[in-house]
Amino acid sequence: MSDRAGTAAVAARKRAEGSRREQPVIRIEDLIRTYVMGRTLVRALRGVSLLIERGEYVAIMGPSGSGKSTLMNTLGCLDAPTSGRYFLDGVDVRLLDEDDLSDLRNRKIGFVFQGFNLVPKISALTNVELPLIYAGLSRGARRHRAARALQAVGMGARLDHGSNELSGGQQQRVAIARAIVTNPALILADEPTGNLDSHSTADVLKIFEDLNASGRTVVMITHEDEVAGHADRLVRLADGRIVADESLELVEAAAEIGARGPLGSV
Ligand SMILES: Nc1ncnc2c1ncn2[C@@H]1O[C@H](COP(=O)(O)OP(=O)(O)OP(=O)(O)O)[C@@H](O)[C@H]1O
Ligand SMILES: [Mg+2]
Repeated sequence: MSDRAGTAAVAARKRAEGSRREQPVIRIEDLIRTYVMGRTLVRALRGVSLLIERGEYVAIMGPSGSGKSTLMNTLGCLDAPTSGRYFLDGVDVRLLDEDDLSDLRNRKIGFVFQGFNLVPKISALTNVELPLIYAGLSRGARRHRAARALQAVGMGARLDHGSNELSGGQQQRVAIARAIVTNPALILADEPTGNLDSHSTADVLKIFEDLNASGRTVVMITHEDEVAGHADRLVRLADGRIVADESLELVEAAAEIGARGPLGSV
């Protein structure tokens, strides 16, 4: 390739990267998910549209059965919508085959579930190593990165414990280490503190806050106002639809101004 052609190719690549960077991490348009149960239809999502920008920390709340987990599974490419479109980092996931989809999921998304979902009996370190096996890393590199992820969540002293030898809060921290070990840009958490006491909840929320501060996008389902209050934005679902979408930063700022007295009240 000539120098000029090479320079043009580099410029084109930079433009492509630039435009990709400006894409929202998540863009969904009129998402519908209907389950067929015998002769009845369950309308879990009835037309959801949502934009989430890079670096946001979003809480999703709503009554049981309102479609939160269905939405989360769609965002995580674990479930395909009945209709509507989903662009993850600008990529229309509908156009990807199963291999590309699992590759995308593995590279870009870290999942945290209410039930931890660790493999029982094997050590914390091996649990955290698992996602790296798909990434094709050598055993030494895997162990090193898994140990670092466990240290990052304060579990450096428990590398060899089986998951059945850990408390709930410790198991959830191992699960978070497993979610972040591939360094994903997007963390999806479905009621990550649902099974935890208040002390472990605080630990887990601090980890999410740090992950968000380091640039990761975090989307978290919760039933607890207190937990949702740690996010910057709150999306409420009811009956398969978004019924509210508000910036918590603005709410906090308004409350602060209001608290300053009559002159500052809004
Ligand atoms: N695999 C499935 N097959 C059939 N119906 C399903 C399936 N998964 C979810 N549903 C139904 O879709 C609706 C939404 O379920 P979803 O799990 O998304 O709710 P949720 O908001 O996460 O509730 P919860 O707070 O109880 O976890 C519910 O009516 C549920 O019964
Ligand atoms: Mg759910």
